[in-house]
Amino acid sequence: MRGAAATALSELEREIDAPGAGLDRLQLVPTPFVPEVRLHLAEDAIVWWARMEAAAGHALPPPYWASVWAGGQALARHLLDHPELAAGRRVLDLAAGSGLVAIAAALSGAARVVANDIDPYAVAAVTVNARANRVDVTVTGGDLLDTGDAEADLVVAGDVFYSRAMAARMLPFLQRAAANGAEVLVGDPGRGHLPGDRLTVLADYPVPTTEPSVDSSLRRVQVLRPA
Ligand SMILES: C[S@@+](CC[C@H](N)C(=O)[O-])C[C@H]1O[C@@H](n2cnc3c(N)ncnc32)[C@H](O)[C@@H]1O
Repeated sequence: MRGAAATALSELEREIDAPGAGLDRLQLVPTPFVPEVRLHLAEDAIVWWARMEAAAGHALPPPYWASVWAGGQALARHLLDHPELAAGRRVLDLAAGSGLVAIAAALSGAARVVANDIDPYAVAAVTVNARANRVDVTVTGGDLLDTGDAEADLVVAGDVFYSRAMAARMLPFLQRAAANGAEVLVGDPGRGHLPGDRLTVLADYPVPTTEPSVDSSLRRVQVLRPA
């Protein structure tokens, strides 16, 4: 690992070694809907983000990797409950965030797992989280969406339809991967930019949510594949 991701990894390792006691600390905790996987998550991701930006002296991308996402949790649950989906296969976790789905694939017996994310801190977070769960995950930075090749038998993407711009680039990548023979699975809690007419629902799960804007403690989250 080099450059920004290597710097982010040193930072996360320092934070994990000396977590402090405030809302801005990282804690290694079981994932609510996937307790088999433990993740280094921020006690409060917004407070963490503010401290990291203040220390860096410039804006940083939102620390999506420091929280669990409903779509990723449903997808990870689906992989662990159906280990034949990943066992013995080459898996790509696209927009991996914390690496939850990649780690679930590895625990399910995947032959090789690659986790990709454009955020150097996410690359670092997947590294420390894979280590904490004692699994091998190869982590790559950089943006595969427009020109990249999945080079995988199974492509998984949790909670990736959260913006119009992301959805417009993500769907063609996933469709291309499926056309090239990969199995493609998406986890999504019904986000506004989910292209529901292009996807088929395979399963849905009642995932605990901590989002303040939602008036139920459970959210129905779907696992889908390109139609
Ligand atoms: C909402 S989070 C979901 C994380 C994870 N998949 C999960 O379900 O827990 C979205 C992630 O997409 C990543 N991302 C955004 N654009 C990307 C791109 N073009 N290629 C790869 N990752 C991207 C962000 O950095 C972030 O980690």
